[in-house]
Amino acid sequence: MNVIDSIPEIRQLRWADPTLSWGLVPTMGYLHEGHLALVRRAKAENDQTAVTIFVNPAQFAPTEDLSTYPRDLARDLTLLQAEGVDLVFTPTATTIYPPDFQTTVTVQQVSQPLEGAARPTHFQGVATVVAKLFNILQPTRAYFGQKDAQQTVVLRQMVRDLNFNVAMIICPTIREADGLAMSSRNAYLSPEQRQAAAVLRRALLAAQSAYAQGERRGDHLRQLMTETINTEPLARLDYVSAADPETLQELTDVEEGVLLSTAVFFGKTRLIDNILASAYEMAK
Ligand code: PAJ
Repeated sequence: MNVIDSIPEIRQLRWADPTLSWGLVPTMGYLHEGHLALVRRAKAENDQTAVTIFVNPAQFAPTEDLSTYPRDLARDLTLLQAEGVDLVFTPTATTIYPPDFQTTVTVQQVSQPLEGAARPTHFQGVATVVAKLFNILQPTRAYFGQKDAQQTVVLRQMVRDLNFNVAMIICPTIREADGLAMSSRNAYLSPEQRQAAAVLRRALLAAQSAYAQGERRGDHLRQLMTETINTEPLARLDYVSAADPETLQELTDVEEGVLLSTAVFFGKTRLIDNILASAYEMAK
């Protein structure tokens, strides 16, 4: 496994044999089974697999957890080695953002609601770094988790709008036994908060099962999620949403499908989760 922090070396390895397909899994490290599921899928579908580990300063607001974001590069590399990853890109912040850096990628409408409303500069940071990683590695396919639903919508829009020659593969959310979506930020939770955090999944399932029984009113779906989250004293609701899966606009009446999502604070830790519900999914 090659562990590399320089862009020219990445390019050299990437193009050593241009006939090989490359799968890319961008991450911020502190890897868990959710990340590893993306790695396994990339490995199964490509000749070569690359993982990037970069805690991207541009996607954190000054008030957010950049300095305390969990990091353990040695452990991450051991895990990736065991998966048979070919290339790990571990750039420094100045490699990605040299002092004269001045270009950003802004995906307009779909960046604005939900996470974008709570974190106004977040998706510009995400889109800019992912555009750079795509240009540095030029992968055949790139792998992202449904866990960050809005991120997948923003990045797919960017790929369409800017004609990136990469196939976007979105993979299912991997969960703990009690349904909590795996996240590097779960490491921040106290044992009591960790137990309480299962309420996100319960809220989403309550709305999904109402949907399965024919509930199509957006307000009612949002109300169900709010009520469920409010049953948990350690939870402080940030938002609940029942939105169009493509435009991310809140729905009054669901027709085709609905992205049910929520963000909840436990102390200072903010967790997100979502479920895509569609008439099609229900019929399966
Ligand atoms: P990070 O939070 O490290 O996540 C890396 C990838 O793993 C993302 O595509 C994310 O959706 C996916 N992922 C995280 N938890 C998951 C889970 N429980 N199940 C399935 N997939 C999961 O997302 C980022 O980093 C950054 O924004 C990044 C895209 C790397 C840009 O900096």
